[in-house]
Amino acid sequence: MILTTFVVLLIARWYYRSRSGRCKSKEKLAGKTVIVTGASSGIGKEAAKEFATRGARVILACRNLIKARKVAAEIIGHTGNKDVFVQYLDTSNLDSVRLFCRQILRNEEHLHILVNNAGIVGPQAKQITKDGLELTMATNHYGHFLLTNLLLDRMIASGPGRIINVSSGIHVIARKINLRDLNFMASNYNPTSAYAQSKLCNILFTKELAEKLEGTEVTANSLHPGAVGTDFFSKGGFEQTWYARVVNGVLSFVVHFAGKLSSSSWLSQDRRVAKALWEVSEAEVQLRPREEHY
Ligand SMILES: NC(=O)c1ccc[n+]([C@@H]2O[C@H](COP(=O)([O-])OP(=O)(O)OC[C@H]3O[C@@H](n4cnc5c(N)ncnc54)[C@H](OP(=O)(O)O)[C@@H]3O)[C@@H](O)[C@H]2O)c1
Repeated sequence: MILTTFVVLLIARWYYRSRSGRCKSKEKLAGKTVIVTGASSGIGKEAAKEFATRGARVILACRNLIKARKVAAEIIGHTGNKDVFVQYLDTSNLDSVRLFCRQILRNEEHLHILVNNAGIVGPQAKQITKDGLELTMATNHYGHFLLTNLLLDRMIASGPGRIINVSSGIHVIARKINLRDLNFMASNYNPTSAYAQSKLCNILFTKELAEKLEGTEVTANSLHPGAVGTDFFSKGGFEQTWYARVVNGVLSFVVHFAGKLSSSSWLSQDRRVAKALWEVSEAEVQLRPREEHY
């Protein structure tokens, strides 16, 4: 029985790897500055390591400084690239996002790549941040929305550049979106719906951003990283569910960051919804007119 399970998992792993995309680029990134949010573990950490390997200056934007400094030391040791730094960022807190951006704009003359990766599945019981936002939406969408807007001017001036928003295939679960109640004040909250909605917002935000960036040398893309064996499924509101345990078990065999071209839900491609979400998000994060760079 154990042998059969093992063989099935090995076949599943081989099948998954053979079907997932792989980055074959050998491009060097010396002279480029990269910010990766949520680089203290999982996909963000591996992405940061890859950027460092290619010679970029890498800023790990993280909320847990102790953990992040260990990761930075590990990356420096692994790659020999000493241009790897940690800077505090809590994407769920708009003041923290503003402070982070002020520091970046003061210290970094150029900014070429922004990877909006930090993400959570919220707790079982709804949590509202001090900014009045639902925690999952604040962490996964609003924080990155504000961050990107505040850094956009510097990115455009430094072009060519790339903005990458890490979404998830699970966005398809969000079959409708109530733009008047994005924070689940009136509608029922559960961690899975909030997570799916936040990942849908990542795609809608990217589509609108890409349009606004037309004519500049900066591009915006969102991606589904594939199923990756990180700590993700043992945190937040997923942790107590039976499917989190199954997913964790299977993913422990599938530690592989894919990321390939795939289609997204029809709702995520609705241009009117994307525009409306942008406007609602601007209001929620209180983006000031002088902070608009498009
Ligand atoms: N793993 C998958 O199969 C999968 C599939 C689809 C999409 N994704 C997406 O991939 C992204 C990365 O997930 P992962 O799998 O690498 O999970 P992970 O290992 O849990 O990493 C998540 C990262 O986000 C950080 N983070 C969480 N809340 C934050 C906040 N408020 N401010 C700043 N950083 C914060 C975490 O910091 P701490 O270390 O302090 O917790 C951690 O570094 C997420 O956006 C997730 O939605 C993952």
